[in-house]
Amino acid sequence: MAIERTLSIIKPDAVAKNVIGEIYSRFEKAGLKVVASKMKHLSRAEAEGFYAVHAARPFFNDLVNFMISGPVMIQALEGEGAIAKNRELMGATDPKKAEPGTIRADFADSIDANAVHGSDAPETAAVEIAYFFPQAEVYSR
Ligand code: TYD
Repeated sequence: MAIERTLSIIKPDAVAKNVIGEIYSRFEKAGLKVVASKMKHLSRAEAEGFYAVHAARPFFNDLVNFMISGPVMIQALEGEGAIAKNRELMGATDPKKAEPGTIRADFADSIDANAVHGSDAPETAAVEIAYFFPQAEVYSR
């Protein structure tokens, strides 16, 4: 399988629960390397831009308000099949439907406060990584 990169965000709910290290540990145990990382309190414009694809959805406003409710931890992950692997670790969007042992099953409270984001395809991964990290801040290793 190809080496890929994906964008991961630990959302404000999970940062507030103090489980950044626990989630990083799951990435590492699954063979994903953190190749870029920063904590940031997103502005409304940054959150709206990041989720622009959802702008017409009824949950958009609540999603943006949630994403700017506190700092997030943003990272690029690298590894074999990183995009699908991260989605597997995350579990389903709705934590009630997420497989036991996934990040969302263990740490998310609801479909809107669902602990983590992960890119869903190579094209979106490239756009999302570039949205937060200039190339010089991504350390392939
Ligand atoms: P989506 O891209 O469908 O899910 P995922 O994060 O698993 O890729 O949706 C983006 C985010 O929008 C999702 O993480 C939480 C929020 N959302 C809601 O608040 N309500 C909803 O009904 C859906 C589908 C998503």
